[in-house]
Amino acid sequence: MAMLLLCCRALMVALALLMLGVAELGSASHHVRFLAPSGSQLSASAAVAALPQPYRASFHFQPPDNWMNDPNGPMFYKGYYHLFYQWNPYAAVWGNITWGHAVSTDMIRWHILDLALLPDQWYDQYGCWSGSATFLNGKPVLLYTGWSNVSFSRDNQVQMQAMAIAVNYSDPLLRQWTKIPQNPILTAPDGINSTKFRDPTTGWLGKDDKWRMIVGAKRKHRGLAILYRSSDFVQWEKAKHPLHSVARTGMWECPDFYPMLASASRNGIDTSVTGPHVKHVLKVSLDDTKHDYYAVGTYVTGNDSFIPTNAKLDAGLGLRYDYGKYYASKTFFDDNKGRRILLGWVNESSIESADIAKNWSSMQGFPRIVWLDAENSERILQWPIDEIKSLYKQKNTLESMRLDIGPVVKVKTTNGAQLDIEVDFALPELKQAEKLEVNASSAQQLCSERASSRSGLVGPFGLLVLASEDQSEQTAVFFYIVSDGRGSWNALVCSDQSRSSLSTDPDKTAYGSFIPVFGNETTMSLRVLVDHSIVETFAQGGKVCITSRVYPTKAINEEAQVYVFNNGSVPIQLKKLTAWEMETVDIGPF
Ligand code: FRU
Repeated sequence: MAMLLLCCRALMVALALLMLGVAELGSASHHVRFLAPSGSQLSASAAVAALPQPYRASFHFQPPDNWMNDPNGPMFYKGYYHLFYQWNPYAAVWGNITWGHAVSTDMIRWHILDLALLPDQWYDQYGCWSGSATFLNGKPVLLYTGWSNVSFSRDNQVQMQAMAIAVNYSDPLLRQWTKIPQNPILTAPDGINSTKFRDPTTGWLGKDDKWRMIVGAKRKHRGLAILYRSSDFVQWEKAKHPLHSVARTGMWECPDFYPMLASASRNGIDTSVTGPHVKHVLKVSLDDTKHDYYAVGTYVTGNDSFIPTNAKLDAGLGLRYDYGKYYASKTFFDDNKGRRILLGWVNESSIESADIAKNWSSMQGFPRIVWLDAENSERILQWPIDEIKSLYKQKNTLESMRLDIGPVVKVKTTNGAQLDIEVDFALPELKQAEKLEVNASSAQQLCSERASSRSGLVGPFGLLVLASEDQSEQTAVFFYIVSDGRGSWNALVCSDQSRSSLSTDPDKTAYGSFIPVFGNETTMSLRVLVDHSIVETFAQGGKVCITSRVYPTKAINEEAQVYVFNNGSVPIQLKKLTAWEMETVDIGPF
């Protein structure tokens, strides 16, 4: 039987290769010259070190130089967290995509290793695109998308799925990877454009002992998560129906599909767990808008389909992980600490020439733990991993005080450019709140209209971070509470970049969302991670997250200040504020 399967597979692979015109391309045809993996990322970083670099992060992951995008295949193996990432070895703009590789024991202090995957095969000659890691009998393997060019294709571009295995599984650093000879293991199925077929997920095992995984795609303008099944992880069969699809959402990039405990415990569970105690999350990255949307629902194992709990909040239509800059994210089950971790790509908001001048582009969001919200099982909560505390240095606080409209209150810091701030406000008197309808699509616009600098009723109140002494530069993170006139209230949560830099180049769009506020709540809280050019906000315990990129010209390093403010006529009671100063992590070679 096994022999038969093997023969069958070999025949299919040979056929696929023939169809794709492999023979013409040959295996060594390179589109670009790729650096020998060894040491390449490290020597280039010297050039970056020589430049003044006010925007590099101190505790968010970044490679030493050049362009990075999606996180790929995050996992924990033999004592180390592994992070792979889309990386261009040659420039601070997208292109020539390889898999960079970093390891860490705490997901903060990363060490860069040699490239894990680089375009060296006919089926990935233009780039090794995003993918995921799956453990097969305790050993991680990687699925990724190869981008290539085959002559018969209409537009000459093809995305195919490929697999890589570690050369030495006794090496906890998994320093070397090899692509399996059966590659490509999947080409685009009938009816799917070969340029719209990418980003395989982590696999999960069904009760029938078959693996499943999904690949992102689109048909016309319908986003699709095409489902595949396999007994051996190499030979995959397309299921008759996709796991899920949603009309008018466009191309689904980097899908992610995972279970969460319905009890809303913070504990995470392995990707293969199913059952009545579990809810599933489907996340899709919408290529059209560059936002990550998720839906909570039920995974019907009988026919391998996903049903969202609330059809209005289906994948791509309802909730976002983050209302700022956050894309192509991926979770993994961290069995080291029994939790599910979310990582996401945070792009620049600067212009391309500025990225080229500073010689790098993008960072990864600070790792977040994710779990189901006990108050609302259609939503997940997100929170920075606890390991962040190992970076805390000096603690700065403000004690309880009343904030009246107008004057800002300074938080004393020695370096306001790298902070972890938590602030609690008492829920203010809501009676006077402005009557205003908010919904998902109006929130962002309202955040710029009700900007921190305008006076309002209940708010705006919150924080000014990365602010200059004269506040001519400031990034405002704030609440503005409104009433629907029918006895319900919503808090707009905003991150307003409009005054974040005296430079006119960066995109300063304000970001925002809203959270329902109930009269019996006592606290409105913000947690804000400030790291030179990234501001990551977690509002109301992680119900809404907003990540911004900003480029102050005066409020840099020790010049960066933090203020608390209220520009609403209703007084706001500050309960407590803590601003931890953060250590700088040195991301270097292993
Ligand atoms: C998402 C994405 C993926 C693709 C990768 C290429 O940002 O476009 O769909 O695999 O980036 O770098």
